[in-house]
Amino acid sequence: MPPSIVPHVRSILAEQEDGPSSLLAVMEEVQSRYRYLPRDVLILVSERLDIPLSQVYSVATFYNAFSLKPQGRHKLQVCTGTACHVRGAMQVLDRLTTQLGIQAGQTSTDQEYTLETVNCLGACALGPIVVADGEYSGQMAATGVDRLLKRIKHKA
Ligand code: FES
Repeated sequence: MPPSIVPHVRSILAEQEDGPSSLLAVMEEVQSRYRYLPRDVLILVSERLDIPLSQVYSVATFYNAFSLKPQGRHKLQVCTGTACHVRGAMQVLDRLTTQLGIQAGQTSTDQEYTLETVNCLGACALGPIVVADGEYSGQMAATGVDRLLKRIKHKA
């Protein structure tokens, strides 16, 4: 956890009203800035807003937008649902794991990439689908992975 995070979270909390109404706003700001919600931060938020820690964890785990583990600057999701699977999603995933040096569910040690698998994004006709930083790429092939990585690497 970055040493500056607790003082920063204290300053975020100082601007908020006590109680549950501030919980999401604080968590969104911390997630957006640090890309995850460290346990010590959740404890601090719980104490400061006077919300049981179990409730804070419930919120943190309910919303997909929140993560309890450090996330990479770039998030890559490979759909491995049935339609994408039969169209070659596993070859796409293999290429990504090779290129990034991480498995699905992991974040690279330089904190640049997080790789995940997801089940059906509701656009099966376009499969296999990779979502890179929220942007969908359909009909992805293993050969397209290198181009995709090059593109997102140069994004700000
Ligand atoms: S299985 Fe991939 S979008 Fe439906």
